[in-house]
Amino acid sequence: MLSSAEIRKRFLKFFADNDHSVQKSASLVPEDRTVLLTIAGMLPFKPYFLGQKPAPFKRATTVQKCIRTNDIDNVGRTPRHHTFFEMLGNFSFGDYFKKDAIIFAWKFLTEEMKIPKDKLHISVYKEDDEAAELWAEHAAIPKNRIYRLDKNNNFWESGPTGPCGPCSEIYYDNGPDAECEDPGDCAPGCDCNRYVEIWNLVFMQYNKDENGKLTPLPKKNIDTGMGLERITSVMQNVKSNFETDLFTPILNKIKTYTKESNKVSLYVIADHIRASTFMIGDGIFPGNDGRGYILKKILRRAIRHGRILNIKTNFLAGLAETVISEYGSFYTELQTNKQLILDIIETEESNFSKTLDFGLNLLGQIIADKKKINGEDAFKLFDTYGFPLELTQEIAREKNVTVDVEGFNKLMEEQKERARSSAVFYSSEEDKPIGGEAIIAKTEQDRIEMARHHSATHLLQAALRDVLGTHVTQSGSLVSPERLRFDFTHPKALTPEQISEVEKLVNYKIMHNLPVDICEKSYDEALAEGAMALFTEKYEKKVRVVSMGDFSKELCGGTHVQRTGDIGLFKIISEGAISSGVRRIEAITGSYALSYVNQKMQVVDTLSQDYKINHQEIVQKVKTLAEENNQLLKKSLELQNQIIINKLENLKPEKIKNQDIYIAELETGADINIDAKKLMESLHQKLGHILCLFIKNKDEQKVSVFIKIDPALVNTYKLHAGNMIKELSQILEGNGGGKPDFAQGGGKNLEKIPQAITKLKDLILEKLSV
Ligand code: SER
Repeated sequence: MLSSAEIRKRFLKFFADNDHSVQKSASLVPEDRTVLLTIAGMLPFKPYFLGQKPAPFKRATTVQKCIRTNDIDNVGRTPRHHTFFEMLGNFSFGDYFKKDAIIFAWKFLTEEMKIPKDKLHISVYKEDDEAAELWAEHAAIPKNRIYRLDKNNNFWESGPTGPCGPCSEIYYDNGPDAECEDPGDCAPGCDCNRYVEIWNLVFMQYNKDENGKLTPLPKKNIDTGMGLERITSVMQNVKSNFETDLFTPILNKIKTYTKESNKVSLYVIADHIRASTFMIGDGIFPGNDGRGYILKKILRRAIRHGRILNIKTNFLAGLAETVISEYGSFYTELQTNKQLILDIIETEESNFSKTLDFGLNLLGQIIADKKKINGEDAFKLFDTYGFPLELTQEIAREKNVTVDVEGFNKLMEEQKERARSSAVFYSSEEDKPIGGEAIIAKTEQDRIEMARHHSATHLLQAALRDVLGTHVTQSGSLVSPERLRFDFTHPKALTPEQISEVEKLVNYKIMHNLPVDICEKSYDEALAEGAMALFTEKYEKKVRVVSMGDFSKELCGGTHVQRTGDIGLFKIISEGAISSGVRRIEAITGSYALSYVNQKMQVVDTLSQDYKINHQEIVQKVKTLAEENNQLLKKSLELQNQIIINKLENLKPEKIKNQDIYIAELETGADINIDAKKLMESLHQKLGHILCLFIKNKDEQKVSVFIKIDPALVNTYKLHAGNMIKELSQILEGNGGGKPDFAQGGGKNLEKIPQAITKLKDLILEKLSV
């Protein structure tokens, strides 16, 4: 049986032997800005197809990581749908065309993979006589196994615009057992499991513009794609992609967490953990928009399916380890980023697990009560419990209940609107609105402060990318006249050194007094110049580009200062996480930054003046004082204990069967601290026999009990301090235990101490009477 790893290798070798340049898979984060994720093997080569860049090779071959989420609802329900998949592809950039593409594909399948010819069927675009004839001639395929299908099936487009062309597909026939309920009509192109499309050969010869017009490309190209999962399932002779060696190790790992066998959930988890591991490996982190949101949805869906399988612990990072060990030798970035991947998944799972059960309960109630999930409910689930809308919809569908998506979207819009308006009108530290006239009076001043914070946000983004890396992208931003808040993708907390480096860099750029240039350009031109844009934003064809020297360039419609020097001063006041992989920095500029720094300086000045310490010596002095304080506390604790010991040494024993039993009660509180173990030790050395100590803490409403017994008595009378403590603690409404000669426990009912003492005496009497 051919392994999937072997198929990858044989595919690349076959095309390398036929003069194709073997290229590494590009990242799932595409350079092409028209799509969020790499959806096909051709995407990294798009500029060559369009003639925008000269191709460095005439032929190429790849195994490309891809993600498509349009079929996400089918994942796990069919044998062949996935979010993440690997696409085997061969490409010609103005070199060979239809004939060779057909010959290569046929040879690979029938000679390299040795698939019986009669198991293969072909489809061509209905008007493509040339392709039909080439198949008949070069593959010697009988005409009745060449199907002419329409545009929906046999004309491939990478999106609403871009390179496209007629295509020809190769289907594998799974035999009549896999046929649909309509055998009369079942043929390639039918959506059932009999004829599975394994390879798509695209004869890429047009560019489609925004009006749908097709213009011939400068050269004719070939773009082919074969899903590794599908060809592996053919070669391993299994009914479902999930039964191939691409999935079985992951499924086996899931089974170590659960005994449940719900296939859909097992498959969804296996699919989604593969996708998530690869996405994070390519620098995508869970977030609230764009790719980050797709990742979050996929991860949260997997966590929820874990609940269906009754998995109660965090399990996804464990699965990711399996994905990394299975795929890491081919996709080395998974090894390199292993710790990061595991950390992000663990954090996301812990975060969502906190609210998931509450959210599921709430959803259950809503469904039971109302039979419909209205906009407010869906929004509450999203906002309070972290349920992506699609997750709520999925659960609703399972229960045959509808969700008011329009209502949800309206509330979402309102929340965004509130966030936008708070940026302008909320002025106090607590974000409270200020009076109707004051706003007008403050408008001009606010406008300037606002511009300072806004321009500083641009410098901050550029500085973060400079210091932390280009994986940093904006995932949220709020600019007010008093402060700025910037959310960005980054997997870990910034170190104090990184924070100070970022702050320093922004301040240097302020000191450099860079001109702030604003100009209009076409969107494409702006992006080509490297301007930062937001994926979630819809831009017009003409966009406004704000540049600050060579340091920062962003698409932006806001108000800015004229030169960076106008910002004055920049101070970061906080840095923290807002969700896994997304950090938030709050910062202030201008007069706000100045008074912030002054306030801090005032603290230092006061310390220095009041205690007559030089500025430079304050830190050392505070350290010394803290150490001295600790020593004093320790000393005082020792003294307290000594006083107690002295007192207890005069304790009169009770006699039970002629044995001395010492029972003492002490009180502690917030200001008294007793080292009970030490105390018991020294008392026992002086008094011997049986010693029982109750320590009451009224502040915390609890009582601790300790029992120490002479080893000789333990032996003679089989006394057992641990067993006694258990019973006493039960009376005191708590628990405890320990060894025969020493044990400790306690409880929360202080009233029951006399009852516990009586019990203790009974227990001792019982043993001593034997
Ligand atoms: N671009 C085509 C596809 O994705 C062939 O690679 O199916």
